Parts: sequence; C-alpha cells; structure tokens
Amino acid sequence: MNPSVNNLKVGIVGATGAVGQELIRLLHERKFPLQELVLLASARSVGKKVSWEGKTWIIDEAKPEAFDDLDLAIFSASGSISSKLAPEAVNRGCIVVDNSSAFRMDPKVPLVVPEINAHVLRNEKPGIVANPNCSTAVALMGLFPLHQAFGLKRFFVSTYQAVSGTGAAAIRELEAQTRALMAGEDYAPEVYPYQIAFNLLPHVDSFLDDGYTREEMKMLNEGRKILEHPSLEVSCTCVRVPVLRAHSMSINAEFDSPVSVSIAREAIEGFSGSELKDDPSNLVYPMPIDYSEKVSCGIGRIRKDTALNNGLALWVVGDQLWKGAALNAVQISEVLLEYGHL
Ligand code: A2P
Repeated sequence: MNPSVNNLKVGIVGATGAVGQELIRLLHERKFPLQELVLLASARSVGKKVSWEGKTWIIDEAKPEAFDDLDLAIFSASGSISSKLAPEAVNRGCIVVDNSSAFRMDPKVPLVVPEINAHVLRNEKPGIVANPNCSTAVALMGLFPLHQAFGLKRFFVSTYQAVSGTGAAAIRELEAQTRALMAGEDYAPEVYPYQIAFNLLPHVDSFLDDGYTREEMKMLNEGRKILEHPSLEVSCTCVRVPVLRAHSMSINAEFDSPVSVSIAREAIEGFSGSELKDDPSNLVYPMPIDYSEKVSCGIGRIRKDTALNNGLALWVVGDQLWKGAALNAVQISEVLLEYGHL
C-alpha cells in the first residue's frame, strides 16, 4: 500500500447488508487510507445510523449523484443495482469494485482474486473490477496452488454454503427458526423455500434449463476466467446448510501431471491466503466455526483420489463474507492503490 495516500473518499453501496457491515470493519481494521467513508443503501434506509468502534455514519441513498466526489465505490447490494449504478459511478470518475455477478463475465471487466491474478490490474486503470462469486473464490484458494504444482484439468465440487451468503435476512431466519423449533413452535420460512434449521437445501440460486443452478455455473465460468484456463472442466453441486458463516467444499480434482500428497501440502503451505490444516490422526481439519472472520482459507483432508487419474480429494473452508466478498473487495482496493490507480 502506498503510505503517502491518505485522502481517499470511499463509498459502500449496500452498507446496511451483511457484506456491507464487514466492509466497514475491514476497511478500518486493514487501515485503508480513508479520508471519508460514505455509506449508501436503499431509500428505505436513508437517515439510519450505522456505528463501528465509536464512529457513526448516517446512511444516504445510493443514487448517481452520490458518486460525484468519490474515488472508490464498493458495491454489495444486488446485480440489478450494480448494473444501474456502477456505470454512473464510473462516469463520475470513480473506480467500482463490484461484488455482484453483473459484470463478472464481461470480457472488458477484470475478475480478480488478488493472490491469483492481481497482475490483470497492473497496467490499465480499470473502471469496474469484479469480485468473484463467494464459493468460487474460496474453492480457488485451495485449487490454485495445486494447479501451479500439477496443472488442473477438471474438478468435481459439492459446496456446503452458510446462510450469511444469502444476506442479513437469512441469518435472522436461521436463528429465529432454530429457536422456534427448539421451543416446539412453528416458524414459516420466508427467505428460503423450505425450513433451513436442522435441514439443508440442495439449491443455491435459480435453476437453469439443464438442471444446474446459476451458482453452480459460476464455479465453471468464473473459474476459467480467473485461472485463465478456458478448457477447465467443472461439475458443481451447491448446497445451503444451516451454518451461519463460512462456506465449506468437498473437491475432487484431476491434474495433468502425477500428483503427490506431500507436494500438494507444500504447495498449499507456500501459498499466501491459504493455510494447511491437515492432520487427520489428530482430528485436525478445517471447519466453518474456525474460519469465520479469518483472512486465510483452510485446506485439509488432502488425499489421493481413488477414482480419478492424477487426482486429489480435498476439503476447503473460507469465510465467504470475507474472502468470498468483503475481504477480497478490500484486497482488490489495496492492489489498486499499490498499482497507483487510486
Ligand atoms: P437496505 O437495508 O436499505 O435494503 P443483504 O445482502 O444483507 O440482504 O444486504 C443487501 C444490501 O443491499 C442492503 O444494504 C440493502 O439496503 C441494499 N439495497 C437493497 N436495495 C437497494 C437499492 N435499491 N439501492 C441501494 N441499495 C439497496
């Protein structure tokens, strides 16, 4: 980070949401050089107060003029809001880091996990930079070091996704539904189509005609773009589980070269942003409660796959509100500073 820069005006769109709240915290904790932080949300929230560590902000409405004086805006509201407002912000000279899926597959928009492909931001000042889908970002934190070691050919993945990935209302639903059911009361689902407490839903995002969901196809399409690997093959099943925070995934990956578990472990250990948590004899493996509010993703259960050629099986866990959203967005912003675009 450039220490001489300390006058940035930064906006958060979706500041009242689950990711927005983490953005406020991480921008401060990571000492992003803020001169002013502007918190934006829907018209419903205008005038609402948001506080963090003794500081208080008043929410403003996210509308085009709100970006007039901003250097950087981090969007975490929805695809339709990003589609409408991100170009308005860029036209006003603001760089946008967008958490939605609106621009991720646009060939002109960089899609970035800094530990993997920060280089795509090096030369040109971007307008919009896209932040990947949360499960994709976490999965790649385990797969990228193995790709470097052995050459990734294809992978099969099942996700175990926390409710906070759906947003603040889903966290409230899981907590309230759990309490109600424990008290022997009914609690009708509102956010999810079915009960999520003491259950799971093999369904994240909307279904496509071929039976996959949009979320599942993000793993393939965004994975190819971030890894710059157009022939990568991926088959994904996304599952919503009654976990509050941090996504987990079971991955079976096939590589071009023969694999070795010890080299795989070394590759993970040498990769910044991931940590090896893999000692089955002592019951050491990553779990969502250990990786909530944690910068690193945890990688464990690494073993030779019994069904694939040159295959490895592994278990990856990461805080999707952080590495899958707010942290990755702040890390992108730090790269923009480092490369002199801010
Ligand atoms: P609001 O609280 O005003 O509805 P989550 O993903 O946790 O549900 O959060 C969604 C975020 O997106 C919230 O901050 C929400 O603000 C914001 N949002 C929803 N609709 C709009 C809108 N039309 N314009 C700007 N922000 C919006």
